[in-house]
Amino acid sequence: MSEPAPSSGPASSGSEQPLLQAALALGQAARVAAYWSQYALSRRLTRPVRSRRPIAGEGPGLGYVLQDLRLLLRRDRDNVAAGLYRPPHDLLEAPLRALAGAPRYLRDLRQVERRRHARRHNEVSRPPPGSGPPRDLVGEGAYPKYYLQNFHYQTDGWLSAESAALYDHQVEVLFVGGADAMRRQALVPLAGFLRERRQAGLRLLDLGCGTGRLLSFVKDNWPRLPVTALDLSPAYLEAARRQLAPWRDTAFVQAPAEATGLPEAGFDMITAVYLFHELPARVRPQVLREVVRLLRPGGLFVLVDSLQKGDHPPYDPLLDYFSEAFHEPYHASYLKADLEGLLRRAGLVPEGLERAFFSRVMTARRTV
Ligand SMILES: C[S@@+](CC[C@H](N)C(=O)[O-])C[C@H]1O[C@@H](n2cnc3c(N)ncnc32)[C@H](O)[C@@H]1O
Repeated sequence: MSEPAPSSGPASSGSEQPLLQAALALGQAARVAAYWSQYALSRRLTRPVRSRRPIAGEGPGLGYVLQDLRLLLRRDRDNVAAGLYRPPHDLLEAPLRALAGAPRYLRDLRQVERRRHARRHNEVSRPPPGSGPPRDLVGEGAYPKYYLQNFHYQTDGWLSAESAALYDHQVEVLFVGGADAMRRQALVPLAGFLRERRQAGLRLLDLGCGTGRLLSFVKDNWPRLPVTALDLSPAYLEAARRQLAPWRDTAFVQAPAEATGLPEAGFDMITAVYLFHELPARVRPQVLREVVRLLRPGGLFVLVDSLQKGDHPPYDPLLDYFSEAFHEPYHASYLKADLEGLLRRAGLVPEGLERAFFSRVMTARRTV
């Protein structure tokens, strides 16, 4: 996999650049410090889970990971300097939010820790009453069976407001404040696509939108672009609705990504961020067939997800450990899935592949 240089583009000049870069660097540092302290505290408050499968090799030290995070943040700043996207809309507020979320996160960590050591991940095998099943996939009024689990031993699975309130914070702690910057790498191909076209009439769909973090960056950059946020979880969709409240032309759909019920060829761009590693192997091609059905010819698909084995060998042991210790039931099969082959077989033409810290950013087109 390519190890990209900072994305190139028309570097903007002007006296405000050094100031903007300094503000960005400061905001990033404050944010990372807030999440780093919680990461370090979490390590003290929890015990490692013994993997049931042997893990080959040892992961790199923390120093290596932090240096890699520094490269990601540098790339994020370079992308802003190159005019590919704006500084994050929550630059000032994000470090405060990171601190304010700590008590809730730490309270929940105790429950997560208990589940991890008891290997209890089926607390939501029946959806809680009133959690609003979208359609019948596996039985009367049910969510797909694979969906009803405590992924990464989370509280309430995907199915409560509490789970949605905790999610972004938990992911940021896991990636020491790098998660949003990884998501923003999806904006680079979107910027390229949009630059070549008139925006009027274009539409974007985000599959498995979660709380709407990616879409908030999309709307901040292209406020007039109509976007559709799709997720199976009503609670996460509700959080996305709140996240996207400052913008217009937003739609929210509760449906499975493999059978959205949305009109054929209705979108020019489709994104999926951290969705594919949560899907069973048999569902991934179904989602890709749905992507092809939903994209207009010439349309762009951007997939951001966990690195796979071999993408960046120093991280291979960490990826294996993550599958095991965090109850990621489909991550192990995801790690070795031939994603490029899956894209091709679904009828997409793979175009780009880059690494961004612990993520891979893939792009593909529907050509006909
Ligand atoms: C790991 S989260 C990723 C959320 C978000 N995209 C992000 O950037 O963090 C996975 C999301 O996908 C949703 N999801 C999982 N399986 C799904 C499916 N088959 N169809 C639609 N959404 C799904 C979950 O409800 C959850 O919100």
